[in-house]
Amino acid sequence: MSVTPDQPRPLAVVTGASSGIGLELASCFAAGGFDLLLTADDATVAVVADRLAGDVAVRHVQADLATADGVRTLVEEVRALGRPVDALALNAGTGQGGPFVETPLDGDLETVRLNVESTVRLAKALVPPMVERGAGRVLVTASTAALMPGPYYATYAASKSFVLSFAEALRHELKDTGVTVTALLPGPTDTEFFERADMEDTRVAHGKKDDPADVARQGFEALMAGKDKVVVRSAQPLSQAAAAKVLPDRAKAAMHATYTKPQDG
Ligand SMILES: NC(=O)c1ccc[n+]([C@@H]2O[C@H](COP(=O)([O-])OP(=O)(O)OC[C@H]3O[C@@H](n4cnc5c(N)ncnc54)[C@H](OP(=O)(O)O)[C@@H]3O)[C@@H](O)[C@H]2O)c1
Repeated sequence: MSVTPDQPRPLAVVTGASSGIGLELASCFAAGGFDLLLTADDATVAVVADRLAGDVAVRHVQADLATADGVRTLVEEVRALGRPVDALALNAGTGQGGPFVETPLDGDLETVRLNVESTVRLAKALVPPMVERGAGRVLVTASTAALMPGPYYATYAASKSFVLSFAEALRHELKDTGVTVTALLPGPTDTEFFERADMEDTRVAHGKKDDPADVARQGFEALMAGKDKVVVRSAQPLSQAAAAKVLPDRAKAAMHATYTKPQDG
């Protein structure tokens, strides 16, 4: 989207914008001439907003999107701006690593609430006005973990399968509305994810990872091109990617587990 000086700048709302892929997505939107509404759970998002402000206007909302109140806070802030959302990046996400029989229920439920529930709540509130207006772009951060069962972060992989399926279905429903939905499927990416998910003692956490700036750029370009999805896994061995396409689910689960299983277990 090119913006000329006499046109109002488009607005992008980015969740999980304080670090990792979301921070880099916010930078892509800023470089693309979007004003920004950034959101994350802790106060760092204010620092990020200050850093990105300059040629574009950047606001921030601190909200725990794993709660209905947090989602409501963000939606109210969006509505208070009184301007349409041109791009919505539903990116905030977290995981809970470890054998399911040992993981804390709260960690599993927070994963589901943030990754699944907040995606649905935010889409329900913010997509209908896009459809009414006949324009908008939605980016949903899924994961290559969505493509196969994910032992040792079972609720995380399941949550990403949900958001991928949700994004693809929504894309179909909206195909004649002027609103596009794009799924971003990163492979292992060098962010705070593994530490937060309690997965530091896994093979995937110590393996090669993509740069979050590259992942975000590919997601942003796919979004702006109106593509259905983009899979970014340059750090993943080609043999593994190829095997994932042809193996039965049981074998995919076993292969995935070799990367996600705690090494001390
Ligand atoms: N890193 C990978 O290997 C990888 C691979 C595939 C997909 N992904 C997906 O990429 C997305 C971004 O993750 P990342 O890798 O960039 O990890 P990250 O660096 O940990 O970033 C996560 C972002 O989500 C925010 N967030 C976490 N809990 C929140 C909550 N309860 N309410 C609101 N915001 C919250 C964080 O903000 P606070 O710091 O304020 O909590 C942060 O801005 C996630 O959906 C993740 O599942 C990551």
